[in-house]
Amino acid sequence: MQAGNGLPLRFNEVATRDGFQMECSFIETDDKVALVDELSALGYAKIEVTSFTSAQAIPALRDAEAVMQRISRRPGIVYTALVPNMRGGERALECRTDEFNLVMSTSETHNLANLRMTREQSFRQLRDVIGLARSAGVPVNVSLSCVFGCPMEGEVPTDGVMGWIDRFADAGAVGVTLCDTTGMAYPTQVQSICAQAVTRYPGLNVTAHFHNTRAMGLVNTVAAIEAGIQQFDMSLGGIGGCPYAPGASGNVATEDVVHMLDCMGYRTGMDLNGLLRAAKHLERAPIVRDVLPARAGKVSRIETREVGLAVWAALSSA
Ligand code: COA
Ligand code: ZN
Repeated sequence: MQAGNGLPLRFNEVATRDGFQMECSFIETDDKVALVDELSALGYAKIEVTSFTSAQAIPALRDAEAVMQRISRRPGIVYTALVPNMRGGERALECRTDEFNLVMSTSETHNLANLRMTREQSFRQLRDVIGLARSAGVPVNVSLSCVFGCPMEGEVPTDGVMGWIDRFADAGAVGVTLCDTTGMAYPTQVQSICAQAVTRYPGLNVTAHFHNTRAMGLVNTVAAIEAGIQQFDMSLGGIGGCPYAPGASGNVATEDVVHMLDCMGYRTGMDLNGLLRAAKHLERAPIVRDVLPARAGKVSRIETREVGLAVWAALSSA
């Protein structure tokens, strides 16, 4: 395992999309906007604000337009949203969404459950959505679900995953996110798949997205960094999950990831104390059901991260 040595990493927050889509009771639009605004000051590259999905499929995010229009945008942050189809793309464009995060599963069974289309039907429609985005000058990322395994099909062949990356990159996507939708990924597999993905298309921005279902989110994050990934999705407090994937649970928690990587000497650029405060607000406000799964906020004082921060500060001033 390597030390961070000041290597800069980029972080995407997904709590208001992946996190809130799982909540049974509706979270007020004001609370969603307030959380995005609070997070905007904490050092993220991207915030996935909401999703432009059907209100029948994801009732928790039926206020997507209002949220996207009311957040205060901070220069330098990409305010992205999940887009499943052409109607979603049109709605996202109307709200000046900075980036479309298209979604498709690499598992046929999960795609049918989640999007009610075969993968080919999804791809054909998403290719047109990329055309729409490009004509409006909006960049497109595609989140590929179940890259590391499917709760219904089991193994998902890596060659097939690479084939979808090829097709989306050829269609004009500038980024791809490798999603471990139900926390099936394990470190050696992560290293192999991530290494293949980052070397496949120089210039294609590859992001990793881990759920912590089997407590492997942190170790998978380190494995992905060592395979060359420098951008990550994560969710404040560790909330999240796909309502159409059996057994889904939360993403790896932002504060846990940032704490670990600060300790290791990576240059996260994130405000960990601000994250811990925001997580407390999330826990105290009547907007999430349970005690948050994240661990970093459970201790009274963070003892170790200054060591790693000092290492890269010394390196960068040398
Ligand atoms: N936004 C808003 N409404 C939409 C929509 C969108 N992106 N796409 C379809 N609709 C509406 C249609 O207008 C139609 O409305 P009507 O009944 O009033 O006529 C209705 O939804 C059904 O349309 P249809 O095209 O038949 O969609 P569907 O029911 O087959 O659902 C998806 C397909 C993709 C829209 C839906 O499965 C979905 O939103 N899935 C997202 C799942 C998700 O976000 N999972 C978690 C993230 S991994
Ligand atoms: Zn997810």
